[in-house]
Amino acid sequence: MSDAVAKEMTSTTAPSGAAGGAPAAEISPRLAALWKRGTDFLECPIAIMCGAMSWVSERHLVAAISNAGGFGVIACGSMNPALLDAEIKAAQTLTKKPFGVNIITMHPQLMELVEVCAANKVSHVVFAAGLSPGEAMKKAKTFAKVVCFAPAASFAKRLIKSGADAIVVEGSEAGGHIGPVSTSVLAQEVLPVIRDVPVFVAGGIARGEAVASFLEMGASGVQMGTRFVCASESIAHPKFKQAFIRASARDAMPSVQLDKRFPVIPVRALINKATESFMEKQREVLEKFEKGELDQQAAQLEIEHYWAGALRKAVIDGDIENGSMMAGQSVGMVTREEPVTAIMSEVIAQANAALSGRSAS
Ligand SMILES: Cc1cc2nc3c(=O)[nH]c(=O)nc-3n(C[C@H](O)[C@H](O)[C@H](O)COP(=O)(O)O)c2cc1C
Repeated sequence: MSDAVAKEMTSTTAPSGAAGGAPAAEISPRLAALWKRGTDFLECPIAIMCGAMSWVSERHLVAAISNAGGFGVIACGSMNPALLDAEIKAAQTLTKKPFGVNIITMHPQLMELVEVCAANKVSHVVFAAGLSPGEAMKKAKTFAKVVCFAPAASFAKRLIKSGADAIVVEGSEAGGHIGPVSTSVLAQEVLPVIRDVPVFVAGGIARGEAVASFLEMGASGVQMGTRFVCASESIAHPKFKQAFIRASARDAMPSVQLDKRFPVIPVRALINKATESFMEKQREVLEKFEKGELDQQAAQLEIEHYWAGALRKAVIDGDIENGSMMAGQSVGMVTREEPVTAIMSEVIAQANAALSGRSAS
């Protein structure tokens, strides 16, 4: 650690995580000032959100992130309202700190999930994917701060008009479902023009230098997913974590669409047997469609259903060949299993050092 960094590290100390043991992170005054809007919004000392990851972002990881001073988010993409209710209540027994709930706007029980958040006094609701949250946004705003994903500046403006209190922009380097534009381009497009609400940048972020850069560009904080998958507190199967630790950036590739008549929303994941069979599946369905054995809708459904249950298979059952290994390009920077506090401390130290180096020159 440089003297300059040590000198700057005087004010804020983030708390130790639930697992304990790791040293608390020291946040330099410069870093604290840069992400103040984000920490005020999230109501926590570290403006790092752990992006909701289906099956991974459950009570244990969420509580560990929030207890470490960051912002955990429950992923409820695979949950019905009763399961979400149980998950929120369980997380609340593990942490008294704020955390969010991520709801996919295409979920068939969207309103019921929002009602569950209201009943449990969830402080932040994150709406992800596709459609505008509409009525669900109105309801969520009656009891929580609302965060929305925006794939472009124009969308961000529209979402803010309809009530979004903060925006997440996520570039194509991210793990899971992705858009076509990279984080660096999205950040340049959105950060200079969206100033009314805090903007959090996601996709490909794993080190503090990148966190510092996006904050300096005007972000209020960041969201990371891939970097937290191998946290000791994450319940991901040991084989899932080992695959992350072994992988490099180029192993995390988007799924490929074979025919423009049958759209496939790209998902970035580690390449495995399932990736190859997905191509075979598309070929097989196309053949049946062309022979008239399947109509357009049935063919599209067969393609979409291919991945049903596949993430659970990998994350929970440890079937890393036949399951979906959703991972971002930053997977190459995941080198070991370690507690959330250690990850947070490392990222914060890197951000402090980067900022201190800049102010010295
Ligand atoms: C295994 C995995 C599962 C994910 N599941 C979801 C999800 O259910 N809902 C969602 O909005 N984003 C999901 N994401 C995206 C993350 O919330 C986060 O935005 C993303 O991981 C950030 O990019 P990074 O992976 O480069 O850090 C997932 C990502 C991963 C790696």
